[in-house]
Amino acid sequence: MNTTISPHGGKLINCSLSGYARQSAFEEAHALPRLTLSQRNLADLECIATGIYSPLDGFVGEEEYKHIVNDMHLSNGLAWSIPVTLQISEAESAKCRLDSEIALAHPNGEILAVMTITSKFKPDQDYEAKKVYLTADDSHPGVKAMSAEGEVYLGGPITLVNTISHQDFQEYHLTPNDTRAEFAQRQWKTIVAFQTRNPIHRAHEYITKTSLELVDGLFLNPLVGMTKSDDIPADVRMKCYTTLIEKYYPKTRTLLGVFPAAMRYAGPREAIMHAISRQNYGCTHFIVGRDHAGVGSYYGTYDAQHIFEEFGEDELAIKPMKFEHAFYCTRTKGMATAKTSPGTPEERIHLSGTKVRAMLSNGEVPPPEFTRPEIAQILVESMSKAKN
Ligand code: ADX
Repeated sequence: MNTTISPHGGKLINCSLSGYARQSAFEEAHALPRLTLSQRNLADLECIATGIYSPLDGFVGEEEYKHIVNDMHLSNGLAWSIPVTLQISEAESAKCRLDSEIALAHPNGEILAVMTITSKFKPDQDYEAKKVYLTADDSHPGVKAMSAEGEVYLGGPITLVNTISHQDFQEYHLTPNDTRAEFAQRQWKTIVAFQTRNPIHRAHEYITKTSLELVDGLFLNPLVGMTKSDDIPADVRMKCYTTLIEKYYPKTRTLLGVFPAAMRYAGPREAIMHAISRQNYGCTHFIVGRDHAGVGSYYGTYDAQHIFEEFGEDELAIKPMKFEHAFYCTRTKGMATAKTSPGTPEERIHLSGTKVRAMLSNGEVPPPEFTRPEIAQILVESMSKAKN
């Protein structure tokens, strides 16, 4: 018995070869021209190859790119909100001939995949930024990362000829096949996924548990690909997640697995991509709270929720669970939102990420209304280690 939800587009993509075919493709790949992937490309390669980005089976070509950028759909009509691109410099582009194969290598030099180049194009990146990120401002971290990656885009299907190994949290790298099997084994039919790039604080805990009241299981799926430099590093966050689950979550109803994608900070459009990825993992519901995948003040607080209304009822099988801004209410002495708290604005304790970072860097422990003491401890310790 499987979770009741199909992958986006009906089938899970698996770009890996196995056995002899893989060995010979790996050896032959050494004769091909080679591109060394950036950390961002590497994260995308993993998401494509393991089916997290189903139905994509490679980096997008020009036609798909235009459909995605202009109207958030693939050419076959399926919803898709962010172009997953392989960008290279003009200098590198000479060795990448159309209709030929290229080896894609890990930053450490190891060949991982072979790509058939079916499209090579040079789009207007300013236009892409305005459509996808809703700004062309180079201080937006997603726009900055995109424009730093080169002006020539290569598209085409990929074949994985090696294992993408991880130095960290190997046991938490679950593919959609793994999670679907695990959900089935746990007999979960309805599963809510939670995306985060932060340590889980009390507001996160509130919205995940409120969701868990309504479904069979919770998939905590923190993003561990590239994030901006002032976000808390993934290894510290993983320590926070495992500590929190141990004491504060029902273990039999919670599964932790990492999301290898890089953060784009594209707000609403990224919320759609995050939801589709979680559908591929087998989840039926997806939490979207305040300013999901946002940064600075580029997006409205609930824009990432409203964007779901731009898609038809049947377009996204996974359903968003939308939450208003959660805070600690001093009158009721519990977590709440404006929908459930009778308190005045003065009775609502909310700390911004910036304020918490400032507290941590001064060695101050964030209050229990904001975070569990065990988590506060880990954060303070990691901050003082980073300083020394
Ligand atoms: S994100 O970039 O991964 O979205 P973050 O880790 O802060 O950032 O948020 C994870 C999820 O929790 C997102 O859906 C976000 O909207 C939601 N969220 C974060 N803080 C709050 C809050 N105080 N109230 C309601 N939802 C929140």
